[in-house]
Amino acid sequence: MKILFVAPEAAPLAKEGGLGDVVGALPPHLEALGHDVRLVLPQYRGLRTTQPPRRREEILFVHTGVGVQFAAVAETELPGSKVPVYLLEYQEYFDRAGIYHTREGAYPDNHRRFGLLSRGALELCLVLGWIPDVVHVHDWTTALIPAYLNTILSGTPLGQTASVLTIHNLEHQGRFPVETFPDTGLPGWTLRPDGFGDVGAANWLKGGLYHADKLTTVSPTYAEEIKGPVGGCGLDGVLRFKAADLIGIVNGIDEAAWDPATDPHLPAPISADDLSGRTVAREALREEFGLDPDLSRPLFGVVSRLFAQKGMDLFLDIMDRFLGSTRAQFVLLGSGDSLEEERFAAEARARPREVGVYLGYNERLAHLIMGGADFLVMPSRFEPCGLSQQYAMRYGAIPVVRKTGGLADTVLPAEEPHGTGFLFEPILSEALLEVLLRAVDLWETEPTRVAALQQNGMRRDASWGASARQYSQVYEWAAAARRG
Ligand code: ADP
Ligand code: GLC
Repeated sequence: MKILFVAPEAAPLAKEGGLGDVVGALPPHLEALGHDVRLVLPQYRGLRTTQPPRRREEILFVHTGVGVQFAAVAETELPGSKVPVYLLEYQEYFDRAGIYHTREGAYPDNHRRFGLLSRGALELCLVLGWIPDVVHVHDWTTALIPAYLNTILSGTPLGQTASVLTIHNLEHQGRFPVETFPDTGLPGWTLRPDGFGDVGAANWLKGGLYHADKLTTVSPTYAEEIKGPVGGCGLDGVLRFKAADLIGIVNGIDEAAWDPATDPHLPAPISADDLSGRTVAREALREEFGLDPDLSRPLFGVVSRLFAQKGMDLFLDIMDRFLGSTRAQFVLLGSGDSLEEERFAAEARARPREVGVYLGYNERLAHLIMGGADFLVMPSRFEPCGLSQQYAMRYGAIPVVRKTGGLADTVLPAEEPHGTGFLFEPILSEALLEVLLRAVDLWETEPTRVAALQQNGMRRDASWGASARQYSQVYEWAAAARRG
């Protein structure tokens, strides 16, 4: 099949979180199954390409409600693969420091920026004469696409193209004032309540959910959670209505980019058969953060965006009690909410030998924490899939996670024969403290059991193979649904 991915991120070219990891890793696996897969991405300022992209001769005349916008196109490949990536060049929108926002907040013209990406990607297909069987879109930023295919483009060759929308995170919906909706160029009737209309706002994700032929999300448990009022973020009604078209497919990980045996960011190789490289990484990590080098102290780590979703406030609330009553140490790599950033920075100042904090984005350090921390903490309030815990397991860091979404689907309780980590359920800092203390206890009293948990995690199958085959099946269903 011919499959077009349209997305705001694709690792390593442009990434802010796990969505980028998924869009960067899945296409080559689909290609290996025999599909012709291509990707459209904005030409951002900070794009991490190995070679300069090649400028193509096509100029796109993109018709949106704003008028006709002229966009240039460049081409590159997803690094490490032959998957073509078309870069939509529109400097006024994309030649900026961030993907979605600055520290001051979201770009105020995001509806125009991602509207242009969405409409432009489809215009590109028409200009190239490459008509995909399926367009696979991701989250709210590209959720207009299913509606374009069903409405203003239905009379073009793209009228036969099916759409699949993947929900990576239901919390971010792309809600804009209704006055902005005409900018999309979609017909006004699509703003009905069974479309983009959402109590006084235009909700891009909601419209996308109604218009897409098939929906997926990134774990089976999250697929269930979002059909209920707690996980549904106001869209559970739509998701129950579309339940027969919604399937949860757990994310794999890019096993080449995250391979502890060959990782250039680690000071020594690590494998399930030889964990000694972890000691070297732990030493390096302690040294980098200036922590007490005593290796008999368990080291807890975090690599995370700092937003309410991630539940790090639960950790902050018990951090003093936890570190005060155990010999544990803690390192954090993260950025986001300024209050949480400041609280962690204050902890690091108060306990310089126990706590290390790096506020910002740092790829190398993310890998080093996975290889050097004994435990990785993810107390997420909700977690559609979560990749960090999967990287942790692959690198031998034992995950301590809340039992939700993809965390529940990927981490097996320590008590079970093939257990890989620790889980707690109530969204309460006391419940987190209890499980952290259990982890410390195991670490101090049962080193063989700890090694078994590590090895179980490292040997766990986290490859994309099975999930790529499931996506392939969903594309077939979507195309069949489109043919009617
Ligand atoms: P989410 O997409 O919700 O942030 P995931 O666990 O799916 O959660 O993916 C997070 C990804 O972002 C992982 O690849 C993780 O290593 C990376 N990441 C998060 N914060 C940072 C940071 N400060 N520096 C480097 N990488 C980070
Ligand atoms: C989102 C989710 C995360 C998921 C990622 C990739 O960012 O928060 O749980 O792993 O998307 O699907």
